[in-house]
Order: sequence, then C-alpha cells, then structure tokens
Amino acid sequence: MPKALITGITGQDGSYLAEFLLTQGYEVVGMVRRTSTVNFHRIAEIQDQIELVPGDLGDQISLIHILEQHRPQEVYNLAAQSFVQTSWTQPVFTGDVTGLGVTRLLDAIRIVDPGIRFYQASSSEMFGKVVEVPQRESTPFYPRSPYGVAKVYGHWITINYRESYGLHATSGILFNHESPRRGREFVTRKITNHVAQIKLGLTDELRLGNLDAQRDWGFAGDYVKAMWLMLQQDEPQDYVVATGETHSVEEFLRVAFEYVNLDWHDYVIQDPRYMRPAEVDLLVGDPSKAGANLGWEPAVSFTELVKMMVDADIELLKVSS
Ligand code: NAP
Ligand code: GDD
Repeated sequence: MPKALITGITGQDGSYLAEFLLTQGYEVVGMVRRTSTVNFHRIAEIQDQIELVPGDLGDQISLIHILEQHRPQEVYNLAAQSFVQTSWTQPVFTGDVTGLGVTRLLDAIRIVDPGIRFYQASSSEMFGKVVEVPQRESTPFYPRSPYGVAKVYGHWITINYRESYGLHATSGILFNHESPRRGREFVTRKITNHVAQIKLGLTDELRLGNLDAQRDWGFAGDYVKAMWLMLQQDEPQDYVVATGETHSVEEFLRVAFEYVNLDWHDYVIQDPRYMRPAEVDLLVGDPSKAGANLGWEPAVSFTELVKMMVDADIELLKVSS
C-alpha cells in the first residue's frame, strides 16, 4: 500500500486530498500542529482512516522525525500561512512558514530519503501584477504581497532541490480554488456565508473590499486530483492548474445573491478595512499543459461552485441554529 504524508491536512485542500488518496488505496499520514483547541472539523469523517502526527513547518527536527518514523513515498506540502491579507501584518512569520518551511521539508527529504516524491503548493498569487494574460508555466512572476513573495521562494527552492539533488520535486501553480470547506475569511466563503445569514434573517449587511478584482476560481475537489497526477509522472515538472475563466468579485456576489432571489446592492457595504496595500487585479490561468500531460480538466463550473457553496452554508446554518 503506498503511503503519503500531507502537511496542512486540517486545511481545505488537505482534507480533500486525504479523502482522494484514501479512494486511491493510500495509507495517509497527516501532519498537524499543536493548537490549544482541536481544529479537526474538516477531517472528522475520515479521522479513523488516517494517522495524525504532530509537527510544524517551523521545526525541522519534527519533519525529520516524521519522515524517519513513517517512511512515506509521497509528500504533499500544503501547509502555509495562506491568507494574503494576514501576510502584511505578519510578513516575517509568513516568510518563515510559507517560504523557508519549504526548504526545511525539502532538506528533511534529502537527508532521510531522496527517493520521496514531493509536491509543493505554489500559487497564482506569484503572478501578482501580471505581465502576461493568460498566465502559464513560463509567465514571469511579479508578486504583490509578502505571501506571494514567500510562495515565489518556495517555488524556486523546489526547482533548485530538483536540479541540485535530483529530487522528484514538483510545483503545482494552482489558481484560486474554493469549496464549502474554504476558510470564512476568503472572499468566496465570506460571501456565501453572508448570503446564507441574510437569507435566514441572521444579518443584513456584508462588508467587503475591492469588488473589481478578477480571479480564476475552481473547485478544490477537482484541484487535489491534479496534485496527485503530478506525482505519478515519470519526470517531475511544474504545472498551472486553473479553469481558464475569470470572474470579478462583483460577479461572484451577483450570482450568489441572485441564487437566493436577493439583490446584492441592498446588503453590500464597501469597507476600507478590507482593501489591500497592493492588489492583484486579474488572474486567469492557461491549464493546457495540465490537460495535455496529466489529462486533467476541471469538472465543476463557476456557477455550480457558487451554488454549491451557498447551498452548503444555508444547510450548515439551519443545522446549527
Ligand atoms: P488553508 O485552508 O489555509 O490550510 C493551511 C494548512 O496549513 C492548515 O492545515 C494549517 O494548519 C497548516 N499550517 C499553517 N501553518 C503551519 C505550520 N507552521 N506548520 C504546519 N502546518 C501549518 O489553505 P488551503 O486553501 O487548503 O491551501 C493549501 C495550500 O495551497 C497552501 O499552501 C496555500 O498557500 C496553497 N494554495 C491555495 C490556493 C487556494 O486557492 N486555496 C491556491 C494556490 C495555492 P491549522 O489548521 O492548524 O491552521
Ligand atoms: N478575503 C477578502 N475579504 N477578500 C476580499 C474582500 C474581503 O472582504 N473584499 C474584496 N476582496 C478581494 C481581495 O482584495 C482579492 O482581490 C480577492 O477578493 C480574493 O481574495 P481572497 O479570497 O482572500 O483570495 P486571494 O486571491 O487573495 O488568495 C487566495 O488565492 C491564492 C491563489 O491565487 C488564497 O487562497 C491564497 O492562499 C492563494 O495562493
């Protein structure tokens, strides 16, 4: 039975990837960091089928011990300080975990078992102030946040360890992907959570920042399959994973509110607190390499994604209220 280690298993992608790998017959080991309150809600349904081990990307000894004790064939590095806005208030922490954490893990792999296949969760945020539309694997980076800068470091150190030590190390440049399990601070989930609250009469306003930003939004459940496919290739290469479509925050708002027969103009207040010091205005990816080499394509459309998230948030609030 193949064994995979997932860092960031308690996050959105970690939970979907763990479920997917279980269906592929993997033994799944998930690294979790110590928290004062247990935060296993996303993996609650599979907790008895996976093994959770303590560790932290800030602590290289913990990474070496995990690899030595569990001997995975594949490592998926999904752990990160992943919220762009927070990266301005905690830039050093973000650089340490999201950037240097990748080196700590790659070097632990080099020391313990250089045969391990490694996946790095790179990001379209690296394209930032884009120099090419659509963005592809060869598009130069121009990050616009401490998070984006840290991800560029993680991306290049992955390539460097591949070229320096011959590791099977792959970087997936994933565009925004969402789901009912998305953290509530990200704009899509913030919107669908508020649409549900408004529909159920629990609030009457939604405060947002820049409504003009455009993103290439896909479904997280589709994207974790691309991660796995990348590690099944004989030759490690980097891939853009995206839908090829872009939509504005305003469009997301409109579709979400219209789905429950409401007009977003009646509820949304623009609040400077949610504006960013530097913005990424337009992201749209070209996933043709992933299509050609991996046979990957997204299954869930933009409208299906919005509706899925609104439905899930309404259901969640009904159950909890
Ligand atoms: P997420 O929901 O924020 O999950 C992040 C995970 O990282 C959580 O499990 C978190 O643990 C863990 N983590 C944070 N700091 C850590 C540390 N110091 N040591 C160990 N674990 C730590 O993020 P996601 O949306 O699933 O994204 C997964 C990865 O893909 C991230 O690296 C993200 O930057 C990247 N990415 C995401 C997208 C997207 O649109 N979702 C697009 C491109 C790239 P806790 O639960 O304890 O906080
Ligand atoms: N979070 C948030 N909250 N974003 C808002 C708000 C708000 O109230 N109002 C407008 N926005 C805009 C942001 O300014 C940004 O342009 C866009 O909505 C998307 O913001 P997020 O959902 O926070 O995601 P992100 O694009 O910054 O980052 C996500 O995608 C990256 C891939 O491109 C994260 O998942 C990153 O970890 C990921 O790498």
